[in-house]
Amino acid sequence: MPTVKFVKENVEIEVPEGANLRREAIRAGIPLNLGFLNGFGRRINQSFVGNCHGKGVCGTCRVLITKGAENVSQPTMTEKLQFKTVVIPDPIPKFAYAQYGDQLRLACQVKVFGDIEVESDPPIDLFGEKFYA
Ligand code: FES
Repeated sequence: MPTVKFVKENVEIEVPEGANLRREAIRAGIPLNLGFLNGFGRRINQSFVGNCHGKGVCGTCRVLITKGAENVSQPTMTEKLQFKTVVIPDPIPKFAYAQYGDQLRLACQVKVFGDIEVESDPPIDLFGEKFYA
């Protein structure tokens, strides 16, 4: 079975092949949904109304796949819409994508097929070196 390591939480879990990353994180007690503006309102976003529950619409479950990116499913159309267009009103995922590129994923859209490491709640540095790279 594939292993998922949540680096910040220092938690490692085994998941069935093809498992949904967000669902497995919730089972392990790791809340991935961020609050608006990358942390503000995080508690609200864990609630029933605070996120889209895996539909790929709210963009709050964004994570970095720091190791083993080849062991997860390809980005979905929903992720491309979140990260590369201005169709959806929340601008934060677009800023984050500009900084992290393909490392950034929506956990609710990721299927796990092999060992990976995940960083939850990736910081957004709007004025850092990587942002305009
Ligand atoms: S839970 Fe809303 S985009 Fe993943």
